Amino acid sequence: MNDFVAISECSTQELHELLDASGSLKAFYQSGKRDLCLTGKTLAMLFEKPSLRTRISFQVAMTDLGGYPIYVKPEDIGGIGKREPIKDIARVLSRYVQGIMARTFEHQTVIDLAEYADIPVINALTDWSHPCQAMADCLTIREHFGRIEGIKIAFIGDGNNVARSLAFAAGRLNMKLVVASPRGYELDEPTIQRANSFTADCTSQTGDPFAAVADADVIYTDTWVSMGQENEKEKRRRDFAGFVVDVKLVEAAPKHVKIMHCLPAYRGYEITDDACECPGSIIFDQAENRLHFQRALLKKLMA
Ligand code: CP
Ligand code: NVA
Repeated sequence: MNDFVAISECSTQELHELLDASGSLKAFYQSGKRDLCLTGKTLAMLFEKPSLRTRISFQVAMTDLGGYPIYVKPEDIGGIGKREPIKDIARVLSRYVQGIMARTFEHQTVIDLAEYADIPVINALTDWSHPCQAMADCLTIREHFGRIEGIKIAFIGDGNNVARSLAFAAGRLNMKLVVASPRGYELDEPTIQRANSFTADCTSQTGDPFAAVADADVIYTDTWVSMGQENEKEKRRRDFAGFVVDVKLVEAAPKHVKIMHCLPAYRGYEITDDACECPGSIIFDQAENRLHFQRALLKKLMA
């Protein structure tokens, strides 16, 4: 494993190893110990979009491991692929640093960086996928349920980048994912087919949120308006009416259901404040586990 670009490109064994390493390293750091395996190594962090969790958790993870993170916003380098070709950025950075993480609009940008860089490249969210998020989510599920296999996630809302990475995680790690979306916002058919080629019938689509949650272990949602879609905000908010994760939907699920959201949450839209704050909510455990997963990922790719 040289890069971390998509969960669909990783094997089941690699993903389990990463989750195991995340759990062990989390316990190791929580016991006050430090593993300075990335001393003298630098990570370039390229961002085309805003970030709280990804930016800070990668910076902390890199620092925890003795390494040095450099935060690069688009203006700093004149835009990825704008001032100079992506393939040149990848090769120049390969002469200075030992790893690249990138948050971009086009998924192809991360693929191109990985193709031309001689160093590991990590996908920190593209319009197409968010694999670090889905893996931190799997770690969180494993901690709360004691297992991943057979867990059923009802994803309510947009069939977006987060939903897609969860579908690939479901396929590779033998979970069930049902995505409940309004017409026109479903998870695309090639993604569903790809996920189901890893584990038969692991991912499905419905138009009925109540049917989706009826036997769910987890209710998951994400914003209706992803970064870059701000000009569709009003239309999306109209189209997604009826797909809100609220207490009524939570109460239609089994008693043990956990509520997940990758954050940032737009309370009052895709999720209500009381659903965010309800006893089953594990949204901040998810956010924390971004750090623990990424620390293990950086160690695996860069040490
Ligand atoms: N969940 C997530 O990736 O958050 P940020 O956009 O704040 O990084
Ligand atoms: N789907 C959201 C996820 C944010 C972490 C977006 O792409 O904006």
